[in-house]
Formats: sequence, structure tokens, C-alpha cells
Amino acid sequence: MKEINSNIDITVSEVAPRDGLQSIKQTMSTELKVKWINALAGAGVPEIEVGSFVSPKLFPQLSDTGEVAAAARTLPGLKVLALAPNLKGAERAVAAGVHVVTMPLSASREHSLANVRMTPEEAVDEVKRVRKWLDAEGASTELEVGIATAFGCSIQGEVSEDYVIQIAGALAEAGIDSIGLSDSVGYANPVQVRRMFKRLQEEIGESAGAAHFHNTRGQGLANVVAALEAGVTTFDASQGGIGGCPAAPGATGNIVTEDLVFLLESMGLRTGIDLEKLIAARAIIREGLPGQEMFGHVPDSGLPKTFRYARSSS
Ligand code: COA
Ligand code: ZN
Repeated sequence: MKEINSNIDITVSEVAPRDGLQSIKQTMSTELKVKWINALAGAGVPEIEVGSFVSPKLFPQLSDTGEVAAAARTLPGLKVLALAPNLKGAERAVAAGVHVVTMPLSASREHSLANVRMTPEEAVDEVKRVRKWLDAEGASTELEVGIATAFGCSIQGEVSEDYVIQIAGALAEAGIDSIGLSDSVGYANPVQVRRMFKRLQEEIGESAGAAHFHNTRGQGLANVVAALEAGVTTFDASQGGIGGCPAAPGATGNIVTEDLVFLLESMGLRTGIDLEKLIAARAIIREGLPGQEMFGHVPDSGLPKTFRYARSSS
């Protein structure tokens, strides 16, 4: 939710190096990951989730996250995020110098057990443990949580909206800096998105965080517009729409960063991102993950002649 740059209206948070790569069997080399993150930051992307600190047995393709994060930390102005499912991961993330630790937490009991082998209540306790540890260490690292399956679950089906908001309230009370809502499985619709983000803000105010949408059923950008109307200012997205959730059957990639930036800039909302440089960075995915399918209407069709970047009103 927090803006890191006053020239930006909406923060686009790139998650492909984590959300994308975790669900692709091929491994991108450390060198190319660093080159890719450099290119994204060079295009003006203000924050990047560079990987995750999980067991290397689970996601060997992300086992170099420490090195990648350390390299990303040297890029001026870039906010470096990494995912950690537990205290051990958070300790590793802080040691690598990330600015933000993001913890996944599913409101669906079944998805939670499949993804992190904890019930949602146990996962809330794990987040609280990480908060206490960060405080005890005096670490300035921010702690964010994205509540996954907040709009429904491909394993369990219905997820209680009241329960999602209740979890958010408990996390805010525990001092979590930012709490967002995630639709890892493409179940959300714009009416639900508007309702849930409004409820989130009513419940936890300033701590209400990012919207994380997957485009599984093509509703991603419609959901973005609804979330904007509800006051959301940070959106996760993935270059080329690569990704999915390994623990959620049928999940596909995130909303496409290139299309999101085009949407926002066209609507007069500044992202600080240069679309041509962003699209050029796709070449590194092609080089590092040969044959990998990529999505994106704007990269396929090109920018229209009428396109103008959003301008500062001052
Ligand atoms: N980093 C590195 N290793 C870790 C780790 C971490 N963050 N957390 C656990 N491990 C290791 C343990 O040391 C142990 O290693 P060992 O077998 O050599 O002794 C092994 O992993 C199992 O540890 P345990 O605490 O029993 O974990 P678990 O098997 O109950 O799994 C999680 C729980 C949370 C660690 C695991 O489910 C996980 O990493 N899930 C993340 C899923 C994810 O990232 N999904 C996508 C994002 S939404
Ligand atoms: Zn996701």
C-alpha cells in the first residue's frame, strides 16, 4: 500500500521471479535472473519479489534466492521482496538483506494444508512468530501477508468472506505492516473484489495492502479496475503472465505486467514504468526459459498510436 516514490500513483509489484518461476520446472540460471531483475528495475519497476526462501527440495529452481536477493539489493531505488512461509525462511530472507518479507497464508483450510502443511490458524501463529522475531532483532524489514484463496479455493470451494476479514484483523492487530488479498486461482469477480477490498479497508485501514490476481479465467484486469475503485494502490503482476500456484490445481499465471502497466498509464495513473523497456525484458525470459509460453496482449499487438503515458498533474 505504501508508495515508495512520489512520482508514482500506483505501485506495480513484479512477482514473476517468484510466483512465475516457482511453478515452472525449468531453472533459469542465477546470472539470467539477476540480468532480468536488472532489466525490470531499469524499466522503472519499483518493487520486485525476487524469489522465495523455502526448502530447496520443494522448489530447487528457487534455491539461489539468497544470491539473487543480494544482487537485487545493490540496485538503487528498488524495493526487494521475497516470500518466506515460516520463521526459518524469514531468517534467511533477512540475512539476504531483503526490504520486505512476504508470507503466504491461505484462508482455505485445505489449500493451507496443501501449501504450507499448516492450518490457517497455525499459519497466523507462524506470522506472529516472525513478527516477534523481527522486533526482537530490531530488524527494519517490513512484513507483508497476502491472504490467498480470499475469493474462493480450487480445492475447498467456498471460502467465508467473514473469515478472510477476521484473519486480516488478527494480523493487523499483531502488527503486520501490510495485508493484501490474493486470488491465486482466478475465482474472483469485480463485484466481489470491490466488496472485499472495501471491507478490508474498513477493518484494518492503513494496513490494507496489495491485490494479487491470477488471470486464470480472464477476469484479472476487470478485477484490477474494481480494486482501484475500492482504493487499492499496489498490484502484483508477472511479466509475460508466467506462473501459477503449485498447490492449487488448475491455477495459471498472474495478470500480465505489461498489460497492467498499459491499463494504468492509459487511465492516467502513473506507474513510473517505461513500457518499451519492460517489453524488451521479455527477451531474457525467452533466453533463460526456452520454449516457455508467455502471455500479453500489449506485447503481441504493440502500443496504439494514441497511447500516452500518464503525466504528473502538478
Ligand atoms: N528454508 C529452507 N529449508 C526449510 C525451510 C525454509 N524456509 N523450511 C523448512 N525447511 C526444511 C527443514 O529444515 C527440513 O529439512 P530436513 O528435511 O533436511 O530436516 C524440511 O524443510 C522440512 O521442514 P518442516 O519444518 O518439517 O516443514 P514441512 O515439511 O512441514 O513443510 C513448509 C512446511 C512451510 C516448510 C513447506 O510446506 C513450504 O516451504 N511451503 C511453501 C510453499 C510455497 O512456497 N508455495 C507457493 C507460494 S504461495
Ligand atoms: Zn500468485
